[in-house]
Amino acid sequence: MNTLPDFPWDRLEQHKERAGAHPDGIVDLSVGTPVDPVPQLVQNTLAAAANSPGYPLTHGTKELREAAAGWLRRRHDVTVDASDVLPLIGSKEFVAWLPTYLGAKRVVFPELAYPTYEVGARLSGAAPMASDGLLALGPQHVDLVWVNSPGNPTGRVLPPEHLRKVVAWARERGTVVASDECYIELGWEEQPVSILHPDVCDGSHEGLLAVHSLSKRSNLAGYRAAFVTGDPALVRRLLHVRKHAGMLMPGPVQAAMTVALGDDEHVDAQRELYAARRARLRPALERAGWRIDHSTAGLYFWASNGENAWDQVSKLSEIGILVAPGDFYGPAGKRHIRIAMTATDERISAAVRRLQ
Ligand SMILES: Cc1ncc(COP(=O)(O)O)c(C=O)c1O
Repeated sequence: MNTLPDFPWDRLEQHKERAGAHPDGIVDLSVGTPVDPVPQLVQNTLAAAANSPGYPLTHGTKELREAAAGWLRRRHDVTVDASDVLPLIGSKEFVAWLPTYLGAKRVVFPELAYPTYEVGARLSGAAPMASDGLLALGPQHVDLVWVNSPGNPTGRVLPPEHLRKVVAWARERGTVVASDECYIELGWEEQPVSILHPDVCDGSHEGLLAVHSLSKRSNLAGYRAAFVTGDPALVRRLLHVRKHAGMLMPGPVQAAMTVALGDDEHVDAQRELYAARRARLRPALERAGWRIDHSTAGLYFWASNGENAWDQVSKLSEIGILVAPGDFYGPAGKRHIRIAMTATDERISAAVRRLQ
């Protein structure tokens, strides 16, 4: 346990205080936590399912699994059997425990990445390795490779040809590929594709897992609602361990998630809110001297004005805007900042005004 890094956001405290001292209040763009309401339909379903005295199934209800399979088919041209869907209590817990479930000894993740991939490797006692070039990894066996497209923090989309190469590399070596697809509904200038799409995996899900979260697409971060699907044999193994470990999604949340997966209207409406925020914030940042890299999808701008990341954080905190330094996500981020679009329209307007 003592090999775990410090929780990165604790290091932002002093900048948060400074931003909070702005007379018109802080504009917090440092975390990707949704701020818009939970869709009414989903709230109503949660409330109606409140009388839930018995234990829920680890595997989830049949309706939930079918709703997940239906959504993947409808929105992402991916066909999975509903029995190969496994609910997760938000995707973070799964990211943190997957290496342990697999008994992994060596785990690879992107050089700029969501910190929990490394945390998961450390929790399981595996060797963590940040690398974007699989060919450079040498002959040592790798048990698990994480990909994340659209990526956090960069908003980069991995094209199907890239994902195909990862799948081919992994299949030659018996390596599991886990694809974190929690931003897949948020493609802007590029459309992300799932690792389970036939153009990527040639119709076989062997050795592949796709992880999906409703936190961002449906504003359900507070419900803890996600699922994993893919290789039937792997999903069975995961189900077996999670049954023993009591990793049960609460019944009312299962009901709410089923309805959320069946409804595209709220997802499209939320997308429009983020698109409008992007369209206002981007030119304001550019006018103020920031260059935006990647960021063709997802919830963040990956930006740089060429200075050290912490100097950029400091500069923005002086005008009451809090952002995350790029080195939270790996040393390659030391000259970037990550700016989240998860603030109300009113707070985005405040940020745009202050950047002038
Ligand atoms: C890349 C990535 N994966 C997983 C998560 C975790 O999402 P949740 O646990 O809410 O499903 C996040 C949250 O920001 C993320 O950015």
